[in-house]
Amino acid sequence: MCGNAKCAALVEGALNHQTFSTIPVIFSQLMQISSDPNAGIGDLAGVCERDLATSSRLLRMANSVYFGRNVDQPRVSNITDAIVRLGFRRAQEIIMSASVALVMRVQHSIVDYSAIGLWQHSIAVAIANRLLYRNIFGEHESQDAYLGGLLHDVGLAIEHQFMMQAGFGRAVEQRYISSGLLLDTETDNLGFTHEELGRMLGEKWNFPAYLTELIAAHHDTQIAPDHPWAPLIRINQVSEWLCFSLGLGYSDFSKAHADELAHSRQFLDITDADIQQTAGLLHKEMEALTRTGWFELHHKYAA
Ligand SMILES: [Fe+2]
Ligand SMILES: [Fe+2]
Repeated sequence: MCGNAKCAALVEGALNHQTFSTIPVIFSQLMQISSDPNAGIGDLAGVCERDLATSSRLLRMANSVYFGRNVDQPRVSNITDAIVRLGFRRAQEIIMSASVALVMRVQHSIVDYSAIGLWQHSIAVAIANRLLYRNIFGEHESQDAYLGGLLHDVGLAIEHQFMMQAGFGRAVEQRYISSGLLLDTETDNLGFTHEELGRMLGEKWNFPAYLTELIAAHHDTQIAPDHPWAPLIRINQVSEWLCFSLGLGYSDFSKAHADELAHSRQFLDITDADIQQTAGLLHKEMEALTRTGWFELHHKYAA
């Protein structure tokens, strides 16, 4: 457990930080809307209407031919029309992703690590999770898998924001040199890991158990078969391996750990054909996101 005072102070810093504190607020608003049978498009529009960055991302996606617009349709210019065109679920994914993008807008990078690389990784794992989850378990709850992928490395974003000069930079550098696991160099340089920090955050932010457990154990390749969230954690591990293999964004591990993560495939009966199909769809979606400016963390938010 992340019991040391430095870790607790970091969590407090994130709780009081303007952009980080947006994540649990948006998350709980979206959860409320999802569980309310009377909630409609207007409620969802209300969550993001006051935030220019989120509104801009929604409009861009709705006007993208890949995600929302048929070539002969006119462009949409308001949030309600954008949500109708994208669909409720996709719009929720975009709103949540936009709140996470805000915390990854830190400029400086070190060796192979950058905020944009972490952002690409988080989105790629989220999409792969959604695709794999749907394949194995169906549409229901595939959005939980997306959110899990989006937030599984949130502890790294916090370490980047608050600990760059106080150990995180060294941890990233040493992992790069050793080709090992960032978990190990974090322990050496910070005294805790992004899994431990993420667990504490998930608890403070009142995330549902599946999400906190996934954040806390996403590198645990020995996860017990009767662990209540083992299937989701295993899916996230396959997605991490896949994104590493495809070179999508920053990975906080190297080949040896990727090989271990790949073992999760056998617990889920994921075939080579499933992997090929998922990789193809993932590539297409990442390319489409790139074309809509999704990975420009510092763009001017023009619609
Ligand atoms: Fe990751
Ligand atoms: Fe990680």
